[in-house]
Amino acid sequence: MRTQVAIVGSGPSGLLLGQLLHLSGIDNVIVERVSRDHVLSRVRAGILEEGATDTIRATGAGERMDREGLPHDGFELAFSGRRFRLDLHALTGKRVMVYGQTELTLDLMEAREAAGLETFYAADNVQPHDFDGDNPYLTFSIDGADQRIDGDFIAGCDGHHGVCRKSAPDAAVTVYEKVYPAGWLGILAEVPPVSEELIYAGHPRGFALCSMRSRTRSRYYIQCAVDDRVDNWSDEAFWDELRRRLPPDAAEAVTTGPSFEKSIALLRSSVAEPMRFGRLFLAGDAGHIVPPTGAKGLNLAASDVHYLHEALAEHYAENSDAGLDAYSARALARIWKAERFSWSMTMLLHRFADMGDFDLRVQRAELDYLAGSDHAAAAMAENYVGLPY
Ligand code: APR
Ligand code: PHB
Repeated sequence: MRTQVAIVGSGPSGLLLGQLLHLSGIDNVIVERVSRDHVLSRVRAGILEEGATDTIRATGAGERMDREGLPHDGFELAFSGRRFRLDLHALTGKRVMVYGQTELTLDLMEAREAAGLETFYAADNVQPHDFDGDNPYLTFSIDGADQRIDGDFIAGCDGHHGVCRKSAPDAAVTVYEKVYPAGWLGILAEVPPVSEELIYAGHPRGFALCSMRSRTRSRYYIQCAVDDRVDNWSDEAFWDELRRRLPPDAAEAVTTGPSFEKSIALLRSSVAEPMRFGRLFLAGDAGHIVPPTGAKGLNLAASDVHYLHEALAEHYAENSDAGLDAYSARALARIWKAERFSWSMTMLLHRFADMGDFDLRVQRAELDYLAGSDHAAAAMAENYVGLPY
């Protein structure tokens, strides 16, 4: 089989890219390791920057997001028993959209299916080949039958554990990484959120986050140990611990109920450079990950895809490789700023075992500074709503 762009991975990066390429008249095929249902069962973040919502609308799959998504004009920071609101809209003129990644993935899959584009799910042993030359191709197998897709380009949208980044020669890749000594235990529950907006809470017992998926569905997180396990936490224990970490008025307002999803995510920052190896291009988590504190993972996937689509469209429409040549540096310039922001929000709000009294005083001073300075608040807001593409 032959296509123009062979895409590995049907997460948000692969699906967004496939849809944008299709609308630019560029043929593409997606090859995904797991089943469609498996992709849709993964619970991930849910905060979209305006740049990401623009990119999603450009795919034609933004209708349900605009109907059901919740625009948020601000969020709260809580610490030392206090709460203060960061007015994103007043500080930046922008807002964010609460819309779950799972819903977005479903919308993009349905748009892809409606357009009749080919996706191979449950593909085993996916392997990119010959991307150093002019004729790259993918091999994989479906139900034991060998398959091959030849393309002009391969897009590695296969997440942090994917095969594409690992296929580049070791000497060609540098990975910059930071591992934080904590995880996030998250639950989903069919209960109304404690507040209209998100609350990020720093507390001596550890970080907590009150988020949501809709007006009736809440997403809550508490910082936990890296070796903690979901089985250690009954719903009751989770709710008790969450309430302990929130200011009293917020704690009292929490509506509890049975959770229907519970999982632990570890906190890690990682960037692979470059994002291009000949005719293989990385986008999204395949190239970089962030700790979830700044809600940047999905948004970086959207900006990478925006740049990569523009570059590929320029290649086919104008016979120019300027965009492809600039892709890695252009994407990385934005990625590093989001990495910096995610790291700084993580360090601001968590308690890590290796933090001494000095670190904790600095943390407190920074929160006081944010609460008391419009300049500091504006800098945080500018990053939270997303730096321009
Ligand atoms: N072959 C084919 N597909 C693969 C392979 C492989 N060897 N390895 C992984 N995949 C698939 C995964 O099953 C997944 O569906 O690639 C997809 C990658 O999707 P994501 O991990 O969602 O990454 P991305 O699309 O870049 O989206 C980034 O999603 O993961 C979150 O927190 C992340 O919000 C961020 C956003
Ligand atoms: C989420 O709703 O899952 C969420 C929200 C904000 C974050 C991280 C996760 O910073």
